[in-house]
Amino acid sequence: MDARPLVIDPDITRASTLPGSFYTDTDRFERSRERVFARSWQWALDARELDGPGAHRPLALLPGVLDEPLVFTRDEAGVLACLSNVCTHRANAIVAAPGRSRALVCRYHGRRFDLAGRVQSMPCFEGVQGFPAPSDDLARVPHAELGPLAFVSAAPEHAFERLIAPVRERVGWLPLDAFTPAPERSRAYEFDAHWALYCDNYLEGFHIPFLHGGLNAVIEFESYTTELFELATLQIARSKPDEPAFDLPASSPEHGERIGAYYFWLWPNLMLNFYPWGLSLNHVQPLGVARTRVVFQSWIWKPELCDRGAGSGLHTVELEDEEAVVAVQRGVRSRFYSAGRYSPAQEAGVHHFHRLLAERLA
Ligand code: FES
Ligand SMILES: [Fe+2]
Repeated sequence: MDARPLVIDPDITRASTLPGSFYTDTDRFERSRERVFARSWQWALDARELDGPGAHRPLALLPGVLDEPLVFTRDEAGVLACLSNVCTHRANAIVAAPGRSRALVCRYHGRRFDLAGRVQSMPCFEGVQGFPAPSDDLARVPHAELGPLAFVSAAPEHAFERLIAPVRERVGWLPLDAFTPAPERSRAYEFDAHWALYCDNYLEGFHIPFLHGGLNAVIEFESYTTELFELATLQIARSKPDEPAFDLPASSPEHGERIGAYYFWLWPNLMLNFYPWGLSLNHVQPLGVARTRVVFQSWIWKPELCDRGAGSGLHTVELEDEEAVVAVQRGVRSRFYSAGRYSPAQEAGVHHFHRLLAERLA
């Protein structure tokens, strides 16, 4: 482990970036499991997958980092819950596959829970003192929703609303519930780089003219902007005259402008990219210190706008970005590289992210 303190100067004009060693440091990667990921809000699923009373769906929270077995349920009244999917008897996984039922029944010895996680019955437990106690119920895991998107946190360090407020305020007018999932435009990418390098790259548009010729041809790079929020950033791309743009309501700060993309990054590893056609979500999932999976999920609002403008050609842009971050992962290992400096005009988002990381991993 690199024993030097992890400090990022709050003044971007004086600051140096995270050291190259950060991206190969297995101890800091291990510490990030609890200090970064367990305490953060993670995108989980489209809550509409739980379509009606009794629906339940298991998932592993951040496989590779947290691997926490959870299950979402919808009860008779339609209320969504997120529960631990680990039986309180002897820790078997309760729900193995999505389904529908009036109760969750453990397949190992038959302990039965209602859809809110309360123990209902258990075979052969007559005479067990103090059973059932509240500790025999399934743990309820904090969850939250943005339109149909459901989020969970194992041990939230902040309220979900503190994270999501910039999204609600800026694009809350979008009818997210009318966006439809597009599995054919959803896929996962895996590559050899630290998860934070992928975020670093996302958090600046500086590289667009250099790496993304196709994207650069459809946006007005000169007017690309970055805004910082407590736990988020927003990058805005304006469209070239013939490219698609949002029809913005009068309440929007950009009303009257031709916006081609709102790129939100949410601490620590989620991107919500809103385009005139809909939403592309990127969930960055660390698999190891130098191995990352990024899950792309799309929801379509206006299909006729899919193949034009900043929101088209996402696969090509992704491959261009991956090539860069994989090259950087090789570069940060160099004995001749220690750390870099930031462009105040172009890399405020990267600086902000590094400060949030350093605060938690110092
Ligand atoms: S582990 Fe679930 S009933 Fe025994
Ligand atoms: Fe990029």
